Amino acid sequence: MKAKSIADIQAKKANDEKISALTAYDASFAQLFDQEGIDIILIGDSLGMVLQGQPDTLGVSIDDISYHTRSVRRGVTQAMVVADMPFMSYATPEQTYQNAAKLMANGASMVKLEGGDWLTETIAGLKVRGVPVCGHLGLTPQSVHVLGGFKVQGRQAAQADELVESAIALEQAGAQMLVLECVPVALGKRVADALTIPVIGIGAGVHCDGQILVMHDMLGVSANYMPKFSKNYLADCGDVRQAVRNFIDEVTHQTFPGEQHSFN
Ligand code: KIV
Repeated sequence: MKAKSIADIQAKKANDEKISALTAYDASFAQLFDQEGIDIILIGDSLGMVLQGQPDTLGVSIDDISYHTRSVRRGVTQAMVVADMPFMSYATPEQTYQNAAKLMANGASMVKLEGGDWLTETIAGLKVRGVPVCGHLGLTPQSVHVLGGFKVQGRQAAQADELVESAIALEQAGAQMLVLECVPVALGKRVADALTIPVIGIGAGVHCDGQILVMHDMLGVSANYMPKFSKNYLADCGDVRQAVRNFIDEVTHQTFPGEQHSFN
């Protein structure tokens, strides 16, 4: 089976079909998610928290993401594989090119970077060098110390306007997909409507073009923590495969995220 490309993912937005995405970090879970038909698998730097037990994502290295990307790649046949660039691995364009090349060589089909306007030159440089880029706006966990905590973003009108402007700037620079994290549901809709590229939400409301969850959250195994925007799909059915099927089904039919998983 041919793996989905970014063109396939973008076609889903164009055809008004919702996109489903999960994180995975190893071949076994990646294979199971892939077999159930997930569109995108992200090797997220959330692995710092859910695999390594760290309080945030800042300690994750490019070697960590490379290792897990290699593992995930071996399990995947049909999904698009996206790898996170960790904290300070894309501080300059030259450094970004070298680190992105490692992730692509280890099996990623796209890399994800957190941040706004300051990344436009880097994104354009990656694209011309053959590296597809996913942006990440809203709550950007690598900036947790600047943001003062893991907080909902874009609640003030000026901050919301700035975020929409940044999203447009990323698309114009060449980003081919965007993750939008923890923003009010109305802002999620504004961003998805403003962009032609797919906007994959996590805590950004039902109007995004797709939804992503951290696998440990949606299986209810994150240590002592269940974010408001997530849902324990395993609790309902007791079977991992069925849990993934239910997640994909609810994303497809827009019954997830509900109001209880969204911010105003
Ligand atoms: O690191 C990660 O898992 C992510 C998702 C939360 C989108 O960036």
